[in-house]
Amino acid sequence: MDAKHLSVADALLDWYDVAHRTLPWRSPPGTAAPDPYRVWLSEVMLQQTQVATVRPFFERWTARWPSFAALAAAEDADVMAAWAGLGYYARARNLLACARVVAARGGLPDTEAELRRLPGIGDYTAAAIAAIAFGRRAVVVDANVERVVSRLFAIETPLPASRPAIRTHADSITPDRRAGDFAQAMMDLGSTLCTVRAPSCLLCPLRPDCAAFRGGMPETYPRKLPKKRKPQRHGTLFWAERDGQVLLVRRPDRGLLGGMRALPTGPWSDADPGLQGAPFDAPWRNVGAVAHGFTHFDLACTVMVADAAAEPVEGEWWPVAELATAGLPTLFARAIAVVEGSR
Ligand code: ADE
Repeated sequence: MDAKHLSVADALLDWYDVAHRTLPWRSPPGTAAPDPYRVWLSEVMLQQTQVATVRPFFERWTARWPSFAALAAAEDADVMAAWAGLGYYARARNLLACARVVAARGGLPDTEAELRRLPGIGDYTAAAIAAIAFGRRAVVVDANVERVVSRLFAIETPLPASRPAIRTHADSITPDRRAGDFAQAMMDLGSTLCTVRAPSCLLCPLRPDCAAFRGGMPETYPRKLPKKRKPQRHGTLFWAERDGQVLLVRRPDRGLLGGMRALPTGPWSDADPGLQGAPFDAPWRNVGAVAHGFTHFDLACTVMVADAAAEPVEGEWWPVAELATAGLPTLFARAIAVVEGSR
């Protein structure tokens, strides 16, 4: 490792000592590693959810299930219900499966390779846990780190083709000591100073080393290929109501919003699917539309309302007044607002 690269780690760790975020799953900089259960749980929760959302969930979760053994002994349904609001149920199912494997083997393994074999733990999460919980040198690359490294080295290749180069450069600045602090310092730098649109370069400890800062346009990194236009799909959401309750279904495990509670829907199609997928025949009334951008397509949905005219084949009746506790994805939350606005 050359002197410049060592100085990046030193500068970053010095900054982290004073500027770190205090988060419930962390140990203060320079102290003993935190409880592996808390590190694992926080990393899984943070996979697709922001720190601000995860924080209260994490506090409630660890008060209720403080260890792998406690979580492993929980009822599946209780864990799924507690997960509502954090998104994809596949993650909750993996979380529980992982807790049971770990409880049975008496603790988390402490190497990246073994961690990666556990349910719900991919390359990023394995590296983060190895570094933060076990102090092992690991190259931890999430979207924040991609941005920091792309700027530091002014990487001109666009994402995703630049990923191997980003990893090599990230490796080159990763120190052998304070593995967990370094990983979290990179995350904190990316989310507090080296932000997407308006980086605070004047406060940045890495400014002397930053090639993108020297080039004068740090916010233009990481380079990206021009966005392809997403296809437009159409769908119908059905609001079936009976005695102050609305019909909800569980979406199939595989596919979009897999395993999540939802309003009944028809297929997502290139043309308006009309009443396909309605839970029963009824005089459905169109009360408005909702739109949502998914990763691979934009969806526009008509919202149809009817009183329950027959017993549906599947689903559960949920009190309309308690819909906030159903953990519905954003698309359906928007549809509820449309229905309520039409009353
Ligand atoms: N995002 C993912 N892991 C994190 C961590 N340990 N601290 C802050 N943000 C994170």
